[in-house]
Amino acid sequence: MMHRSAFLLVAAIISLDVSAAPSTPTFKFYGVNEAAANFGTELPGQYGVDYTWPNPDSIKNFTGQGFNTIRIGIQMERLTPDGLTAKFDQDYLGNLTSTVDLVTSQGAYALIDPHNYGRFYNEIINSTADFGTWWTNVASLFKENELVMFDVNNEFWGMNTSHVFAMNQAAINAIRAAGATSQYITPEGNQWTSAWGWTNIPGQDGVTNGQVMGDLVDPSNKLVYQMHHYLNSDGSGNDDSCVSATVGSDRLKATTTWLRDNKKVAFIGEFAGGVNDVCVSAVKDMLNYMNSNSDVWLGFTWWAAGPWWGPTHYNSIEPGEGIAYDTYVPILRSAANGEIFAPPPPSSTTTTDVSSSSSTSPPTASPTLWGKCGGVGWDGPTNCPGGSCCVPQNQWYWQCVLDCPTTTA
Ligand SMILES: *[C@@H]1O[C@H](CO)[C@@H](O)[C@H](O)[C@H]1NC(C)=O
Ligand SMILES: *[C@@H]1O[C@H](CO)[C@@H](O)[C@H](O)[C@H]1NC(C)=O
Ligand SMILES: *[C@@H]1O[C@H](CO)[C@@H](O)[C@H](O)[C@H]1NC(C)=O
Ligand SMILES: *[C@@H]1O[C@H](CO)[C@@H](O)[C@H](O)[C@H]1NC(C)=O
Repeated sequence: MMHRSAFLLVAAIISLDVSAAPSTPTFKFYGVNEAAANFGTELPGQYGVDYTWPNPDSIKNFTGQGFNTIRIGIQMERLTPDGLTAKFDQDYLGNLTSTVDLVTSQGAYALIDPHNYGRFYNEIINSTADFGTWWTNVASLFKENELVMFDVNNEFWGMNTSHVFAMNQAAINAIRAAGATSQYITPEGNQWTSAWGWTNIPGQDGVTNGQVMGDLVDPSNKLVYQMHHYLNSDGSGNDDSCVSATVGSDRLKATTTWLRDNKKVAFIGEFAGGVNDVCVSAVKDMLNYMNSNSDVWLGFTWWAAGPWWGPTHYNSIEPGEGIAYDTYVPILRSAANGEIFAPPPPSSTTTTDVSSSSSTSPPTASPTLWGKCGGVGWDGPTNCPGGSCCVPQNQWYWQCVLDCPTTTA
């Protein structure tokens, strides 16, 4: 552990450097998630019913404004429905390839995100060999395109961290052996790859990401650790509140030290805040902090755009309809161009008392379409409006959606 005074000194020197040249872009990766082909829980599911693909105009809208990284969610079961080592569904693969090609033809990075939580058909993947074969097969297809990036897997949780380490190492070995040697790989950690919990939230084996993930080996030396960072009370992103105007930077500090101590770099693959004063201040403060520590923080992708992400979802920046677009797209662009935002006026820096935040007193009104209706710790009502169903999007977040499961109990 670095002494706190030494840490502050280093931080001060770095922030001086950055503010001396505020117009220099500091982030290598900045962009957005396209949540579309990973959508829904029906597996493998049907195009147009359970999932869709990103709108090409949405991708061009972002790349046209200088966003240079698009994280493309997919489901592994839709790409290889018959098993991890089985052949591709050529139709799904064709749509993935055209989406990737569109992104990279705009000069942007296409980050392929198997949005699977370390699971296949909802069961934990235990075979690192089969997982490696899946990645060999996928990486072989994209090895000539240097703008493709490989996301090992979205948000492992509920397993041994030593297993997550082994899954990451198997994917890295497989991707490099397939001949994809020039591309970036983003390993993810256990327990939702939380940036806040990286060094202190253990997996089932009592091991934290910080204890082991620094030992991953990449012969190409192009690992960018991917972490997720939501600013509400439990860090889940399940509601539009932010704990305080400085929660984003406060919760990154320990991990920043870990990255520097271990000589690693990272980026925030998911984060968001609602359209309210505390969150706007918190997002700006978080981006300021990352800008001031851009030796280890290489950038971010906002969660999320996507045609079905719901125009009214609090963090949607789908062009032309997402309610967070007008507020957050200009902020992300400015941050990417090196702007250090002014501190917020004193009133909005006041720390919200966590004990009185909305998460401890869930709403009593019925959920609306696209609203939250369940998940770990949820005491609110679960009755979705007619025609929609309450479907788990992950362990923490059940949502009222129109694509109701077709299987009967
Ligand atoms: C791929 O996209 C086309 C529309 O562009 C659609 O007709 C087709 O069903 C899609 N297939 C899959 C598996 O995504
Ligand atoms: C992997 O192991 C876990 C824990 O033992 C088990 O719950 C899971 O079903 C296994 N996965 C498969 C695909 O067999
Ligand atoms: C997880 O780790 C514990 C402790 O090291 C071990 O006993 C257990 O067998 C592991 N579980 C699996 C599914 O590998
Ligand atoms: C992106 O979409 C917004 C909102 O619809 C629009 O105002 C803007 O002109 C678009 N920009 C580009 C580059 O397409």
